[in-house]
Amino acid sequence: MQQTLANKRILLAVSGGIAAYKSADLTRRLAERGAEVRVILTDSAQQFITPLTMQAVSGNPVSTSLLDPSAEAAMGHIELAKWADIFIIAPATANVIAKLAQGMADDLLTTCVLATTANVFVAPAMNQQMYKNIATRKNIATLKEHNFHIIGPASGEQACGDVGLGRMEEPLNIVAAIEQFMAAKPAYQQHWQGISLTITAGPTREAIDPVRYISNHSSGKMGFALAAIAAQQGATVTLIAGPVSLATPAGVKRIDVISAEQMHQAAIAAAQNSQVFIGCAAVADYRMAKVAEQKLKKTGNDDLNLQLVKNPDIIASVASLSQQRPFTVGFAAETHNLLDYARGKLASKKLDMICANDVSDPEQGFNSDQNAVTLIWPQGEQALPAQSKTALAQQILHHVLQQFTLQTKA
Ligand code: C5P
Repeated sequence: MQQTLANKRILLAVSGGIAAYKSADLTRRLAERGAEVRVILTDSAQQFITPLTMQAVSGNPVSTSLLDPSAEAAMGHIELAKWADIFIIAPATANVIAKLAQGMADDLLTTCVLATTANVFVAPAMNQQMYKNIATRKNIATLKEHNFHIIGPASGEQACGDVGLGRMEEPLNIVAAIEQFMAAKPAYQQHWQGISLTITAGPTREAIDPVRYISNHSSGKMGFALAAIAAQQGATVTLIAGPVSLATPAGVKRIDVISAEQMHQAAIAAAQNSQVFIGCAAVADYRMAKVAEQKLKKTGNDDLNLQLVKNPDIIASVASLSQQRPFTVGFAAETHNLLDYARGKLASKKLDMICANDVSDPEQGFNSDQNAVTLIWPQGEQALPAQSKTALAQQILHHVLQQFTLQTKA
């Protein structure tokens, strides 16, 4: 057997439908292609198939409950979600699909789906009339919008005697869909090949004296996610990072800086050798007019005035380069009037595109793992809904590449 899934970690969640008996065969098919398979059984799945069967075919302990201390001690639900390279839900009942569409997390399966960054494949299985129901159709459409991969369902005779669409796709067809996904990359994923890209990320830190500084809450996660994905997709990436505690993504050239002036210098040099520049850094607008050489001491006064001067606008300088100007993309982090301010910055900084980022919501933006942006360029706009910064980075890069390619062809 060809090891098409060698070393892939596959988390298979089984929910309660008659097709659950086929999930043992599915597990065996995945395992014989080299995958390591771990299985989650919902309560109702256990009415159709036992943990013992699934343990025997997967060769791994089976997880059945969110709140089982012994299972959590072996591999907790978050660990399980992080462990997976691929997450398959087969069979996925109408009820599970509805819960996933709502983002619910009331059992082990749904909690792991929310907690994973793996690609999630859903193989619906239900009565044909339930599948036709408008509520189910809407839920499946929502899952597609949220980047779930839907496999099937197949058509034919059903356990209840009905005939129609709703049978779980055959295990071998599910395996084929996974293999195809692993082998094929969407066309745009190869298109960064040979393109040079500079990204600024993180905050800058402006010294007040030898022990104090002015900075902001930027974590650098968005810029690092962009750098990681672009490198995976073939770009030559230079990442100019302010002070952050993040690992350098594979294949990325990283230049560490502290202050806006240092970032400015590094960015101009790198931008002149880049075809695309993305300014994701939260650059401090002001720095001390003069950094105190000694630690400032408390005085008898209640007020302390610091004199600040404006930092160079890095991205505006890049966008104004008269020679070797890259396609320039900025970020606008705002707490109000998001789109208006972003459009203003697109024009005033002479950018080619801007990612408008609402940072008033603590669930997204600064320091969070989630983000949502609206991309704005002179001829168009595209809202990208809240999702992980990695997933968002893929979408942002897709649109940047599209506009960059149009501009270079024009
Ligand atoms: O003006 P504002 O700081 O909101 O603009 C945000 C955009 O400008 C971001 O892309 C940021 O990286 C960039 N910027 C810059 N240099 C500055 C200030 C902001 O490159 N001094």
